Amino acid sequence: MYILVFSRSSKNSKSLKLPPGPPSYPLIGSILQLCPTKLHQALSKLSKTYGPIMTVKIGTITTVVISSPILTKQALHKHDQALASRFVPDSVQALSHDKASLVFLPDSTKWKAFRKLCATKIFSPQQLHSSQALRQKKLKDLLDFVHENCQKGRVIDIGEIAFTTVLNSISNTLFSIDLASYSSGISQKFRNVITCILEEASKPNIADYYPILRRLDPQGARRRMKKYYKTLLDVFDCIVEERLKRGDSLKESDVLDSFIDILRSENSEFTRQDMLHLFLDLFTAGIDTTAATIEWVMAELLCNPDKLTIIRRELQQVLCKERELEDSDISKLNYLQAVVKETLRLHPTAPVLIHKSVAEVDICGFRVPIDAQVLVNLWTMGRDSSIWTDPNSFLPERFLDNEGGVRGEDFGFIPFGSGRRMCPGIVLANRVVHTMLASLLFHFDWKLADGSKAKDMDMTEKFGITLHKIKPLMAIPIKEQRMCN
Ligand code: HEM
Repeated sequence: MYILVFSRSSKNSKSLKLPPGPPSYPLIGSILQLCPTKLHQALSKLSKTYGPIMTVKIGTITTVVISSPILTKQALHKHDQALASRFVPDSVQALSHDKASLVFLPDSTKWKAFRKLCATKIFSPQQLHSSQALRQKKLKDLLDFVHENCQKGRVIDIGEIAFTTVLNSISNTLFSIDLASYSSGISQKFRNVITCILEEASKPNIADYYPILRRLDPQGARRRMKKYYKTLLDVFDCIVEERLKRGDSLKESDVLDSFIDILRSENSEFTRQDMLHLFLDLFTAGIDTTAATIEWVMAELLCNPDKLTIIRRELQQVLCKERELEDSDISKLNYLQAVVKETLRLHPTAPVLIHKSVAEVDICGFRVPIDAQVLVNLWTMGRDSSIWTDPNSFLPERFLDNEGGVRGEDFGFIPFGSGRRMCPGIVLANRVVHTMLASLLFHFDWKLADGSKAKDMDMTEKFGITLHKIKPLMAIPIKEQRMCN
């Protein structure tokens, strides 16, 4: 059916039409058919009726939803430039964040400068190598915490420990400091603020659908967002201030030091405010996605004990207790890599890519008008039976045969996006996800809390900018004596 829609339309390229879609009513558009907590699934269901490119009116906003690899390739490669901007929700305009945001700036000189800064000063192989020891220390803290709980037979909230570890791994990568600990409650405060920011940015807001109402902020979204942003910006400002007061002899030679050098240089294209807003973006875009990925992987493994056994055997063959785990070990852990990919296929932690058109484009014979919101539904493609065999089953083995590549050569599987807006943190995310999982699974066996059975596990997803498990994964670590290879 998809191919029929595709070929019929491309013949009429002179009179291009909007892609088909559900009925749209005055003022509300198709809003009644879209459940906000299951938006990825609602869009998936609609695309079964209207095809892999469809138009959904959300209030007054024309939204084009794409859910096939061929059309995704057209959108993110052929029309990369025209579609590389973002729809900016009213709430993120609080404290003018959208004017200095790597995530929300349109494809522009300033956005390119931010991307370059990230690529050269944060995520370059040299920089990540030099901060590796600090992240290793965070893994050791994590293992100490799990060990203590293991001895006391306590249940662990996997999402919570993943959040604290990722938060500290990223804060150490940038500033060489911890921002939280497992028992202080500060981690929970960070988690609450970041969750609130992500929820506020993705929650339906009448001011987004009827721009005439924007000035009034009728639901108070921008007001609340201002408070959340300020909380994080104040933390980063204190960190920068403290570093500025230090003498050069106490230099860390970390990301923050190199940023400060840039700020002090003449004709710097960045201001202190730019840097603070960049940190805000890196924390909000990087921590929740990475922690949720770790929780989903652990959930899938506890649901599939046979795969858990295979992965633990691989870890025992490749790693050694007497030596610290290094980022370079990841390349030897083929089954672990396949498990992470398979988890991201089933539960892409950024389930829908959110872009905006700055020019009218023709995608396979359909018109995508200027200023349309363009959504790429990764979740639908991950579960499409025309792309994947047995799509709803957890089968990491498919990736050992290279059924898809994470960098997006195959557009049916692009959990980090593709093209200009592709995730800049992919290298760090992969290091943190794999080393944390390897540590948890090499040193401990795991069982579900309360004697729950794998087959009874609730894997219901909650839609948001990040896809979460509705019920937190609670698990018990079990210590095992093992010989070094
Ligand atoms: C498993 C973890 C992660 C996943 C699945 C993920 C996925 C994504 C996706 C799908 C996008 C949007 C791509 C698009 O719109 O086409 C994105 C953008 C972004 N990610 Fe990640 N990400 C992860 C971790 C990280 C980390 C660790 C950081 C930084 C510390 C980060 C920073 C960003 C930023 C700043 C953007 C916006 C880039 C732009 O608009 O130019 N992400 N990520």
